[in-house]
Amino acid sequence: MTRSCELHVTWLHAADADAALLAEATSWLDVAEHDRAGRFARREDATDFLLGRWLARRALAATTGTRPDEWSFDLGDHGKPLARGPSVHAPAFNLSHGGGLVVCALCATADSSVGVDVESISRRLPGRRLERFLTERELHALGPESGSTFARRFWRTWTLKEATLKAAGTGIAGTLSAAEVELAAEGGARVRPGAPLDRIELLELPIAPTHCAAVAVDAPALDGVEVASITRAVVPPGT
Ligand SMILES: CC(C)(COP(=O)(O)OP(=O)(O)OC[C@H]1O[C@@H](n2cnc3c(N)ncnc32)[C@H](O)[C@@H]1OP(=O)(O)O)[C@@H](O)C(=O)NCCC(=O)NCCS
Repeated sequence: MTRSCELHVTWLHAADADAALLAEATSWLDVAEHDRAGRFARREDATDFLLGRWLARRALAATTGTRPDEWSFDLGDHGKPLARGPSVHAPAFNLSHGGGLVVCALCATADSSVGVDVESISRRLPGRRLERFLTERELHALGPESGSTFARRFWRTWTLKEATLKAAGTGIAGTLSAAEVELAAEGGARVRPGAPLDRIELLELPIAPTHCAAVAVDAPALDGVEVASITRAVVPPGT
């Protein structure tokens, strides 16, 4: 019998969150999260943090039949949050915020790990230092260095790479070339075969034309990834 990894993605515009939603998100935080939320210098960063935890708790609750406030998070060696809650199986999840969007990816099937990344295409490119971010092969595949096509290819490559390193749990503390990306591979973008993280499966998320977003799933014991849902979180009036 085949068993695939059931993937759920939820996202929202940070600007959609009203005071009531932020109050609900805050009421679900534990002591360490309260402390962290209070230490952000910029209000937008505090809001992104709150919304990420709100999306994650809602997704964890929805897929396990539990309550959002029953979930808390431990941090892995490189800071990756891992869910701890009332159900025996804590699904793997990951969060990203970028350019006003917040995204949560969750694998409901055990034996998996997931990474997600989102970036605005209009975010400034890192100038002449591109080779610090991408390998020679990845840079070559971007084509001529001008215009919106180049920017979109750069952010597609970057989000796929960062999602892969987040699935592995190292984040960008890991070797960037371990997740060398091939954008134009037949059947969709992938980690280059032979690269250390080539077992990880990649998916680009069609969330918003203004952003690039990607999910990476590490589930070698499973038979592929089934995208069960990609949903813009509905913000109930007067949450
Ligand atoms: C994780 C990382 C890639 C984030 O990059 P970013 O583009 O600034 O931010 P994103 O919005 O895409 O992702 C941030 C989220 O990723 C998650 N995250 C943090 N560390 C992670 C890791 N090592 N692996 C996977 N996910 C991670 C968190 O949920 C975080 O959001 P939160 O703190 O609000 O919950 C980057 O910070 C990194 O590589 N960190 C690990 C390196 C390290 O060891 N740093 C030392 C601090 S512990």
